[in-house]
Amino acid sequence: MKTTLRPLVAALAAAAAFLALPAHAQGAQEPIQPIAPAVVKNPAMVELGKKLWFDPRLSKSGFISCNSCHNLSMGGSDNLKTSIGHNWQEGPINSPTVLNSSMNVAQFWDGRAGNLKEQAGGPIANPGEMAFTHELAVDMLNSIPGYQAEFKKVFSKQKIDIDQVTDAIAAFEETLVTPNSRFDKWLKGDANAITKTELEGYKLFRDSGCVACHNGAAVGGNSFQRMGLVEAYKTSNPAEGRAAVTGKDADRFNFKVPTLRNVELTYPYFHDGAADTLGQAVDTMGRVQLGKNFTKDENAKIVAFLKTLTGDQPQIGMPVLPPSSDATPRPTPFDKKK
Ligand code: HEC
Ligand code: HEC
Repeated sequence: MKTTLRPLVAALAAAAAFLALPAHAQGAQEPIQPIAPAVVKNPAMVELGKKLWFDPRLSKSGFISCNSCHNLSMGGSDNLKTSIGHNWQEGPINSPTVLNSSMNVAQFWDGRAGNLKEQAGGPIANPGEMAFTHELAVDMLNSIPGYQAEFKKVFSKQKIDIDQVTDAIAAFEETLVTPNSRFDKWLKGDANAITKTELEGYKLFRDSGCVACHNGAAVGGNSFQRMGLVEAYKTSNPAEGRAAVTGKDADRFNFKVPTLRNVELTYPYFHDGAADTLGQAVDTMGRVQLGKNFTKDENAKIVAFLKTLTGDQPQIGMPVLPPSSDATPRPTPFDKKK
């Protein structure tokens, strides 16, 4: 009991310390900061990463790209309870948004990848996702003259390797930030950027203690926390959370706190995709994390606030991918039953 309550006590202490601030200091002291626009360091690498992001030839089927499950037209997610992988396999867990993922303390719900580069190799070789191997992916790229030339330009190496692939994808992902939300404008001092109801929602969100876990520029993403701190969260999804990485019992059911940026676009919610609507997600969070039953009106206000976190979506021209050559291995869209 003591251990489960410790984060909550810390959360309440943080909230209390925050509330003790004089009112005039709060503008500068909000627990959420605006997102800064992306700084593109290497445009050629970002452009290459964008091509790889959209290239379904990195999958065994020749049909699934990163964008299949992290659709940049849909908030960087697939809006499915769990994703569809190779051979129409039912995925084990909800696909998180890739928007602002460069701000995450680590990648995946359980944080098993340290950063975007480390993460990017995962899905290509995951049999339930793109079902390819790094070797086959690299062979495929090396067989395409257009890619050979572009990789050489960016990396000045003779041959394409998986390291270059993941570097380029990560460089592209770093540009997928969403500044300029209405809430950011409010944070920067534009009092009219959000409505009275939305502001009331923010105050409920802040003063109820949601900000103990959802804070910083990404409004989350920077810690692992127990799902079901005050009340057990019931799910049939077998995911263990952080314990799968650390092996520690204390980390069971700790998940990376998701970013709430663009949360209006990234339904359904939670690692098991069990909450279809924001209203449901807010209701569950109130109960299981804070022991609070929000009224209908409070719930609606918090939802209204959360919708002010939708920022400028990355403006992406669809890349034209270099064509396969005669030597490019052909995809296997269907695993035929023997
Ligand atoms: C078949 C669907 C699917 C495909 C294809 C896919 N992903 Fe994912 N992605 C997921 C799921 C599901 C997760 C969460 C897995 C977990 O946490 O265990 C995830 C997690 C991530 C994350 C971590 C985000 C976070 O907040 O933790 C990043 C970044 C990411 N994917 C990038 C990529 C890239 C890059 C590609 C292409 C090389 C790709 N994904 C292809 C479904 C997919
Ligand atoms: C103790 C830490 C903690 C507190 C307090 C907390 N959350 Fe969460 N929140 C989490 C974690 C962890 C998850 C992911 C849980 C999961 O998917 O199993 C989450 C998920 C969410 C999601 C779903 C996001 C997504 O993309 O799936 C929303 C929305 C949300 N929280 C809103 C809130 C609101 C509103 C409050 C206050 C009423 C709140 N949270 C309080 C830790 C917290």
